[in-house]
Amino acid sequence: MNYTKCWLDYQPILEEKKKSCYCHPVLMAEGVVAKTAGEEYCIAMSEMLGEPVDLLYDIIEEPSVCLEVVEDMETDATNDALAKQSFKIHQEEDSIIISGKSAEALLQGVFTFLRMVALDQIDEKMPYTCTPVMPLRMMNHWDDMDGSIERGYSGRSFFYDDYEILYNERTEMYARMMASIGTNAIVINNVNVHEKETYLITDVYLQQVKQYTDLFAKYGIKLFMSVNFAAPMELGDIPVSDPLNPDVIQWWEKAVKHVYEVIPNFGGFLVKADSEGRPGPFTYGRTHADGANMLAKALAPHGGIVVWRCFVYNCGQDWRDRKTDRARAAYDHFMELDGTFDDNVILQIKNGPMDFQVREPVSPLFGGLKKTNMMLEVQIAQEYTGQQIDLCYLIPMWKEILAFDTYADDEGTTVEKIVSGQSYGQSVCGMAGVINTGDDENWTGNDLAAANLYGFGRLSMEPSLTAEEIAEEWSKLSLSKEKEVTDVVVPMLCNSWSTYEKYNAPLGIGWMVTPHYHYGPDIDGYEYDRWGTYHRADLHGIGVDRTEAGTGYVTQYNEPWRSIYAKKETCPEELLLFFHYVPYTYVLKTGKTLIQHIYDTHFEGVEEVEEMQKQWTSLNGKISDRAFECVTERLARQLENAKEWRDRVNTYFYRKCGIADEKNRNIYL
Ligand code: GCU
Repeated sequence: MNYTKCWLDYQPILEEKKKSCYCHPVLMAEGVVAKTAGEEYCIAMSEMLGEPVDLLYDIIEEPSVCLEVVEDMETDATNDALAKQSFKIHQEEDSIIISGKSAEALLQGVFTFLRMVALDQIDEKMPYTCTPVMPLRMMNHWDDMDGSIERGYSGRSFFYDDYEILYNERTEMYARMMASIGTNAIVINNVNVHEKETYLITDVYLQQVKQYTDLFAKYGIKLFMSVNFAAPMELGDIPVSDPLNPDVIQWWEKAVKHVYEVIPNFGGFLVKADSEGRPGPFTYGRTHADGANMLAKALAPHGGIVVWRCFVYNCGQDWRDRKTDRARAAYDHFMELDGTFDDNVILQIKNGPMDFQVREPVSPLFGGLKKTNMMLEVQIAQEYTGQQIDLCYLIPMWKEILAFDTYADDEGTTVEKIVSGQSYGQSVCGMAGVINTGDDENWTGNDLAAANLYGFGRLSMEPSLTAEEIAEEWSKLSLSKEKEVTDVVVPMLCNSWSTYEKYNAPLGIGWMVTPHYHYGPDIDGYEYDRWGTYHRADLHGIGVDRTEAGTGYVTQYNEPWRSIYAKKETCPEELLLFFHYVPYTYVLKTGKTLIQHIYDTHFEGVEEVEEMQKQWTSLNGKISDRAFECVTERLARQLENAKEWRDRVNTYFYRKCGIADEKNRNIYL
């Protein structure tokens, strides 16, 4: 086996923690997913008890763990889609009952129960009831069929190699891992659909895709594919892909019908259109609603959905133009279409208005759209946050995003409530994560990056979990249950975003990375480029004026944010340079000038990485040598990166403004 089991590496539990019922699992439900629930129980429990555990199908005299589906189970779910996903774990005398309202829910109940046993939380947590918060919990793979992964930092794809579809034990392990954290939808190919991938929805590949669909179905997961909007032109003999053209409409209807003939439980399409060179409805003077609804109508008779991305902007900008603002683009394109999308369309919105930077405000589209299904898109893959070399635990960031109050419907209309369907009663909505896996032995390049993957799943099930709780669960399940290990790993994870931010681009301005590659500093790398990613530093100050006098971006927010962001004095300082052009001598709330803040944070960032290294060294011999060595090596590279950032940023600004560091530290000239 050339891969680890991550958080599914069940360890033996203590003798005194074993309950007599554990070795008598009784499966009282039928169907493939219920069978998987029974199998998962036995795999895990055999490992935890240190003896084989076999599945029974009849109630026996002895105490047992009963796995059942109770279709009329009462739940507190706000809609049917969620209600079906509810499960309950409780004790009756010496027996334990795991009941799900559906087989999928039962499977989630079993994974939850096994986690509780592994973490020794059984007595503390039972009786336990759960209705997942996000209806859709989706992974987006950016895997290409040549075997590469766009923004992949953990080796090559385990789905494809050289335009062939792979299927092996690793794929099966992958499906188990995904289901165990609550994933119920997976997109198997990159949003940038190239030539060969366009054929995924055809007979060239469908039979092989079916292998995945069948595998995922055993785990209650639906398979989705990214499609090429120009497919009718590339695969058919139609000269256009105009969404209102009858031939185009018919082409898609036929293509979709065939997909469902081969794969009846297919989930639907993910679409990146009119973005970064991808084809789309704009070519024909049509709107995104025209495009999305055309596909939605083809999918609707089969129960499929369209996930349509809002990452649409002008990527041919001129740096001299200070009015066009990439940050405005998603809102400008999609707001006017609110209420015009079909019921089986979801708009997938990146967390921020730019592109997964280390710090961005929350996209104003969440607070704008009210009559449209929405899904939050975050990037588990650490494209701009250290590429799984540097440690950057993203759960604290995602929690901030989910908790952001959009004030769309008065106070308390948080992103969490919107994308979970609580605000507007939608049931096709949720969270999508651009996944960070590859064929590296540990799946995620850096062992600690798996905490982001695990955490994404856990958060989409239960957003009320804290970042610390998730870190602790992950660390105990993946590294060691010993307190001395969690005491080091949990703070390391939880502080890592802040550390990364300190040595990165300051106060929300973003970018400053090596163009295209996106690792390491290049302060002016994107400054004169066409992507709309400017910091506007000059000899007096830095930042983008996004007030009404500037690009007007602030007006896309509801009050009170519009006013809060509009003034330097009230703007949250971690976003100051995103919203304002600020002189280097401007005094921040800490009493420091902006330039001093830049110097200080960049020195601190490096010091904090050095401290992390020390902490990590103390784990030698307490966790697996493999994980220890892997992270040791990554931290050494992170330190080099942090130093490079520190020196390039500090020198850059010193050269711009000539203001010396108050503490007289070494700034290279
Ligand atoms: C980023 C990323 C691209 C990706 C794009 C997207 O710009 O660098 O690789 O294709 O996001 O989300 O579509």
